[in-house]
Order: sequence, then structure tokens, then C-alpha cells
Amino acid sequence: MKKIAVFASGSGSNFQVIAENFSVEFVFSDHRDAYVLERAEKLGVLSYAFELKEFDDKASYEEAIIDLLDLHQIDLVCLAGYMKIVGPKLLSAYEGRMINIHPAYLPEFPGAHGILDAWEAGVPESGVTIHWVDSGVDTGQIIKQVRVPRLPDDTIESFENRIHQAEYAVYPQVIKEILHD
Ligand code: GAR
Repeated sequence: MKKIAVFASGSGSNFQVIAENFSVEFVFSDHRDAYVLERAEKLGVLSYAFELKEFDDKASYEEAIIDLLDLHQIDLVCLAGYMKIVGPKLLSAYEGRMINIHPAYLPEFPGAHGILDAWEAGVPESGVTIHWVDSGVDTGQIIKQVRVPRLPDDTIESFENRIHQAEYAVYPQVIKEILHD
């Protein structure tokens, strides 16, 4: 049985969907007050949280993360709104075992504001991408993408909601495929 860990920085709605579909070993957050930690408690999922600023440098912070992943013998790390760039330390330990979800159709609108950037660009459609994590920002090999339309009477909220719904559908599908490989 392959073991999953999820990394999230904020709300954790994607974590919630993953945890409802799979057994998650633990969730890690880089913010001690992130709402994802409350979701984990309600779902009975083990959680860890610590912050980069509590360490001397990013390499030491990532070593602490690697210790957790190794301890739990994690096979697949699912980034789900983890808003830090994965540094060389963590990448060299877990490259090929780490995937990310991005709320746009990469290479369109990479970065931290994929939904807002697509909305402000006025594009007729955006999307969702799941990709392997590499050293770039949202540049790793694409595993799956879906298109999400922007409808004429959309508000930013309805557009954002449609993108999130697409995320909740596609992320479990991809995880299932990887776990069964
Ligand atoms: C999700 O839309 C995810 O795709 C995005 O952050 C959101 C987290 O929401 N990630 C990125 O923008 C990464 N570049 P959640 O915490 O409710 O799952």
C-alpha cells in the first residue's frame, strides 16, 4: 500500500478532498495557524506544522520535512496549495515522488495567483494542471490538464469556484492513477 502525504499552506480544501478519497499518512503545513490543520483534526488525519522562520535556513527547514517523510516512508507527496518553492534539498530527496496542483492551464498563468491572473487577462477559458515538481515554478512535467471555461456572467467568485470544483475532481483521479502504477 503506497503512502501519501499532503502539503498545504492555507485553507486545505484540496487536502480535504484527498483525505476523503485516500488514506493520508499526514498533512504538513508551513503555517501553524493554517485552516488545513483544523480540517485534519476533524478528519482524524495526523498533522505537522512548522515554519521556515523557525530554522536557520531553508535547507534545515527542508531537512526537518525530509525526516518526517522518511519516518513515515512516504511514497507520494501531494502539494495542494503549498505556497513555497521546493528547494534543492527536498527536491533531491523526493523528486519523482512529488506532484503539484496548479489552478490554471500551464504554461499559462504560473505562480501564486493563477486564478486571478487568468481572470484579469480576460481569457475565455483557463484550467487546472497537475504536474511533477521540479526546480522551477510550476514548470515540471505535466501529468494531466483540464480546461475550465469562463462564462459570460461569471464573477471572480463563480469562476474561482468552477476552477476549484475541477481541482476536486481531477486531483483524486491522478493520485489514483499514480498509486496504481
Ligand atoms: C488551490 O487552488 C491550488 O491549486 C493553489 O492554491 C489553492 C489552495 O486551495 N495552488 C497554487 O496556486 C500553487 N501555485 P486549498 O488550500 O483550499 O486547497
